[in-house]
Amino acid sequence: MRSLIDIQELSVQEIDELIAVANDIIAHPEAYREKCKYKKLATLFFEPSTRTRLSFEAAMYELGGQVLGFSEAQSSSASKGESVSDTVRVISGYADIIAMRHPKEGAPLVASLAATVPVINAGDGGHLHPTQTLADLLTISREKGRLDNLTIGVCGDLKFGRTVHSLIAAMARYENVKFALISPAELKLPSYIKKEILQAKGIEYTQTTDLSAAMPDLDILYMTRVQRERFFNEEDYLRLKDSYILTPDKLRNAKADLSIMHPLPRVNEISTAIDADPRACYFRQTLYGKYIRMALILKLLEVA
Ligand code: CP
Repeated sequence: MRSLIDIQELSVQEIDELIAVANDIIAHPEAYREKCKYKKLATLFFEPSTRTRLSFEAAMYELGGQVLGFSEAQSSSASKGESVSDTVRVISGYADIIAMRHPKEGAPLVASLAATVPVINAGDGGHLHPTQTLADLLTISREKGRLDNLTIGVCGDLKFGRTVHSLIAAMARYENVKFALISPAELKLPSYIKKEILQAKGIEYTQTTDLSAAMPDLDILYMTRVQRERFFNEEDYLRLKDSYILTPDKLRNAKADLSIMHPLPRVNEISTAIDADPRACYFRQTLYGKYIRMALILKLLEVA
């Protein structure tokens, strides 16, 4: 039995296989409609979500399975003090696979040690979000036709942005991928990620506060939200929240085939005037999230 807590638990070959299955599901959805008949997915969301929870649920329904779960900690017995370990031990008797989001870093890992069914990390605090990364990789692969030879600008909250942490860990394993790390000084990428991933693998990267200066080199611009829920101090949030707002004029120097991505939800960081630009992929990205989660459920349930 296998869980997915960190994207690095999947080899490059396994990621390529998941992308291939997701592409096949997109091409032949009817062939997958009963693959998970009689299987149940439990979505245990201790933190708010729209895309991740509902795409997991849609994924399981489209595989012919069923879904149970909760969407906030207050409606579960966590509100009475029940531990994550006890919760998943119980849920293991009710479901075949669990997707869990939790505000505390490491909670899904703790859950995976107590559960007797696979546990998928659906986002843990400011740490990791491996299934968002799978959605991102499928998006990049479909938009660009490759996962190598790319310059990726990640912009916004690189400190607490769990989607960025997982994306860098995944993309750093492909050939000739370079990063531009664009953030305010207070929201820089944590040094452990620079040290353990970028420097350890000899990946080329630049660090800047200036999005316009970085723009001309980018093949992908991955915008992120400054996350109010991760700040201890409202004043800091208010000062930093609008550090980057992508507007059509900021794309003047961008490549004609730039792909603009965002894990969403967005607040102000991408103007709605960008939505009609064919380079904006963020709504396609949300749809790819459902297909890659279907592929992941099949893999972890060992359904052929
Ligand atoms: N991208 C993402 O995790 O969105 P939700 O918070 O809506 O699940």
